[in-house]
Amino acid sequence: MKRSSAKSAGIPKPPPPRVIALLNQKGGVGKTTSTANLGAAYAIAGLRTLVVDLDPQSNLSLHFGHEPAPDQPTVRDLFMRTEVPAADLLRQARPNLWFVPSDTELALVEGELALQPNMQHILAQRLERIMDRFDVILLDCPPSLGVLTVNALTVADEVVVPTQAQYLALRGLEKLLETVLLVQQALNPRLRVAGVLLCMHESQSSHGKAVVEEMDQYFEKFRGSGLPWQDASVLRPAVRRNIKLAEAPSFGQTIFDYAPTCAGAADYRALAEAIRARWPSRTDASQAHESVAVVGASVESR
Ligand SMILES: Nc1ncnc2c1ncn2[C@@H]1O[C@H](COP(=O)(O)OP(=O)(O)O)[C@@H](O)[C@H]1O
Ligand SMILES: [Mg+2]
Repeated sequence: MKRSSAKSAGIPKPPPPRVIALLNQKGGVGKTTSTANLGAAYAIAGLRTLVVDLDPQSNLSLHFGHEPAPDQPTVRDLFMRTEVPAADLLRQARPNLWFVPSDTELALVEGELALQPNMQHILAQRLERIMDRFDVILLDCPPSLGVLTVNALTVADEVVVPTQAQYLALRGLEKLLETVLLVQQALNPRLRVAGVLLCMHESQSSHGKAVVEEMDQYFEKFRGSGLPWQDASVLRPAVRRNIKLAEAPSFGQTIFDYAPTCAGAADYRALAEAIRARWPSRTDASQAHESVAVVGASVESR
């Protein structure tokens, strides 16, 4: 049987998108603010960006001016109604920026999913069909380490941990890293931790400075360890506390719509670039794909 795929036509497949899970089991740390504004920064920079709201609180959509409507599809359909094509669940928020809204009923999905075989892979399977439409996919995780979060980690390339520079944050980080390790070992060998993203940061506070130093030292200990966080660090710049970041969603806006010259916009713009600078280059990724295609071609010609 002749295949009419891009591979057999000699056209290299586009490199897969970079998938980032924004994860912290604690609420109110800046996950949703970071997902919305990093997503907006990537879209403005010309990357085709998808953001998926996995938190039943449904706050992400507010940043894009989207009010939930009862009859509109949500991320719950992504998990529970697999007969609906994933492409039908995407909404465009801005040029280059699409999202899948959440659902306050999403909490029920945790229970329903637990009964399904292969429950950790549903998000990965559903996104696979639409992957090639995007350059970057951001997953706004719920404040728990339950099955929705495990689904996010199963499809992610990297984890970014929004947090505050507080002593207790380090304790929570250790628990989170344990979960990352379990998923990396059992389900997703690709998974890496990029690092912690300091949100609402007050650089003048001496407690804050001490905790950042401790976090830096903590990550240093793991260099060369082979663990998924061996290259992780405290990501720079920190996002400073900036009231405009809290105000923007009440106007249905990202920080780049609402106050594009404020400190919050500058921080998220710079941070988006800093995270992107750590990705393997697109050329490397394409070459990896080409060599897969060559192997594929020689197998096909047998
Ligand atoms: N850098 C910041 N400066 C000021 N307020 C912020 C900043 N980042 C987040 N916030 C506010 O803090 C609260 C919690 O942030 P959010 O992103 O919703 O956290 P999470 O998604 O982790 O629960 C929200 O009211 C948000 O507007
Ligand atoms: Mg949130």
